[in-house]
Amino acid sequence: MIYTHEAITIALLSGSFVYTIWSIITYFLSTNAKIKKISLISFLAGTVYLAFIPILYLTKSNITLSFVIATIAYTLKFLIERRILSYSKYKKMTPKWSCYILGAISILAIALIAIGVKDTNLFLYLLILTTLIVSLSWFLEKGIRIIGFTSTVSLVLLVLVNDKSLAILLSLIPYGFNSIFFNSKDYNNTISSLFIISQYGEAILEEQIEEYKDFIYLLINKVESRYSQRNMHSINVKAISEGIALEMGLDQKSIDYISSASMIHDIGYLGVDHREIEVSAPEEETPKTIKHIWIGKLILENSDIFIKYLPVVLYHHENLDGSGPERLKGENIPLPARIVRVADIFERMINSRDGKKYTIKEALEYIKRNKGTLFDSDVVDALERYIYKHY
Ligand SMILES: [Fe+2]
Ligand SMILES: [Fe+2]
Repeated sequence: MIYTHEAITIALLSGSFVYTIWSIITYFLSTNAKIKKISLISFLAGTVYLAFIPILYLTKSNITLSFVIATIAYTLKFLIERRILSYSKYKKMTPKWSCYILGAISILAIALIAIGVKDTNLFLYLLILTTLIVSLSWFLEKGIRIIGFTSTVSLVLLVLVNDKSLAILLSLIPYGFNSIFFNSKDYNNTISSLFIISQYGEAILEEQIEEYKDFIYLLINKVESRYSQRNMHSINVKAISEGIALEMGLDQKSIDYISSASMIHDIGYLGVDHREIEVSAPEEETPKTIKHIWIGKLILENSDIFIKYLPVVLYHHENLDGSGPERLKGENIPLPARIVRVADIFERMINSRDGKKYTIKEALEYIKRNKGTLFDSDVVDALERYIYKHY
């Protein structure tokens, strides 16, 4: 009977090599945080498995110990994978009972060697049992019969083949198959699509947005300049919103978003008859003017490109206490909308075209009085810092 350490080593390698390499490639390729997390745990599982190879070499003189180590390595990798798979649709594939049995087999193997049992056949059967448990737990779950099948074929070969070194190798080969199956059928595809969408989709969309942005800005500014009530309003709100976002320490991507969204926040006014824009105090929202948020929604809903600014267009008149037109409350109001809300009221108060004109101090005092009820406190604080620096 031939038992070679090389055979066991190759067996361990066959199960973890593809898996580990693929996991780390996936980690660097993917931009999705969840997939990144999965690949990292996956990489860890593979590394733990690979780490047993040097230990196997150290136990060269003791073939029984090699079997035990192979079993433990197999179980450990499986247990770590259970953590990974709980993220995916294959969650049920690794029922708890199979993990408990695998853990028990490992403990039994350690206990047997501790009390001096040296029956190599017994340890080989324990390894076969490990494969059987994994195979069964895969089989029990619908839709993943291929994995169960590869494990079962391996089991049959394991029993039929006389060469036990080859048997060990065969018992572990399904791991390689399964890794390839998972990667190619499941998250390989997902990652590829996510990668393409996140890299190229975003770039293509940004390019299109840039093309239309200038035109839209020009249009809004042109329309606003025709009415004294709205002259330069959006351009001013854009500058103040950017200032608040900068003061709040937001990242560049968020600042860019707020900058574009604030410029078109009142796009709905394009559908409001200017005679309906009533002369009123800037801090008052009349039902006639508030309808511009719903017209804005209708306009954006027809645009694949500008739809991403909908949260600001629709919610920039929401009050923190939930008394706004859409009844959104607190943190449920998207942060960019909370920022534009404050920039918008401040701009209208200090540049009031028809109603009472406020000084910067008066406007800031009014906004601070309503901090926490109408306006987000952090946003108001950022506005205050912005004002001290720029006015
Ligand atoms: Fe508005
Ligand atoms: Fe506005």
